[in-house]
Amino acid sequence: MESNQLKSLVPASGSLLLGVMGDPIAHSKSPAMHQAALGAMGVPGHYVPLHVKPDNLKDAIQAIRALGFRGVNVTIPHKVEVMTYLDAVDEGAKRIGAVNTVVNDNGLLTGYNTDGIGYVRSLKEEILPELAGKHIVVLGAGGAARGIIHALIQEGPGSVSVVNRTASKAKELAEEWGNLAQIRGFGESEAETAIRSADVLINTTSVGMHPNVNQVPVPEAWIPEGIVVSDLIYNPLTTKLLSISAAKGCSVHGGLGMFINQGAYALEYWTGQPAPVEDMKAAVLESFRRETRA
Ligand code: ATR
Repeated sequence: MESNQLKSLVPASGSLLLGVMGDPIAHSKSPAMHQAALGAMGVPGHYVPLHVKPDNLKDAIQAIRALGFRGVNVTIPHKVEVMTYLDAVDEGAKRIGAVNTVVNDNGLLTGYNTDGIGYVRSLKEEILPELAGKHIVVLGAGGAARGIIHALIQEGPGSVSVVNRTASKAKELAEEWGNLAQIRGFGESEAETAIRSADVLINTTSVGMHPNVNQVPVPEAWIPEGIVVSDLIYNPLTTKLLSISAAKGCSVHGGLGMFINQGAYALEYWTGQPAPVEDMKAAVLESFRRETRA
């Protein structure tokens, strides 16, 4: 998009308006990240935290038009419910069943999901440029797993094995998307063979997240030496899964890149310009440092 096109997105108030709706929202890193991005891009604008309770979501979404916001991110607990209030939902987001980014085109609100594509962009850029033909194991079958598996499927992997505590959820997901890829579902106790032959192991569950930092979502002995191991968790930045995998010679990838890149894609939808990913990462890390000092 040319910069004069970008100018046309800035309302008469002179400021591009963006934000994030969630409940709770106070600890979101999105405002710090996007505000830094707007600054680095030289775009006059504000990205604000919006505390929206579930009962108010409909009104809040309608207010996007009335207030002239160019777009918003939506986060927990609104990612599914929000789809009811939009004019259009992107095909991928529909299949995933969740929206995290809303774009306002002159009053027409369209929903996208940038979580999965943000994750895959970060995995490819940071650690594994080619996913085609790889045997990928995904731990978890919830909302985050759906976004990630959907984006992984677009890369033509050799196989995707979904492993979940509740086996039926993994099996149902494999059946739902069985026509899109070689995909199978397993309960935790049935997963040893798939995990032992994985090229890439991805944790989408909350096992190992602060404060349960000593938990690991899979038996250590099953993790093959030298594969790629990735964890969506970014608090802590290095989970126990990643540290034991690194000790086994694995290449490891943490969750920070996904967070940054889901924001980068959202900003690219809103502005049509490449997002300043390094500035965004620096802002998030600085925000973490400030929190630790506080
Ligand atoms: P998200 O949007 O983060 O994916 P979610 O939709 O609630 O959140 O899904 C959480 C996932 O983590 C699920 O796959 C869940 O397993 P179940 O389907 O069996 O509930 C998994 N999960 C959460 N806590 C877990 C635990 N202690 N052990 C194993 N899996 C866990």
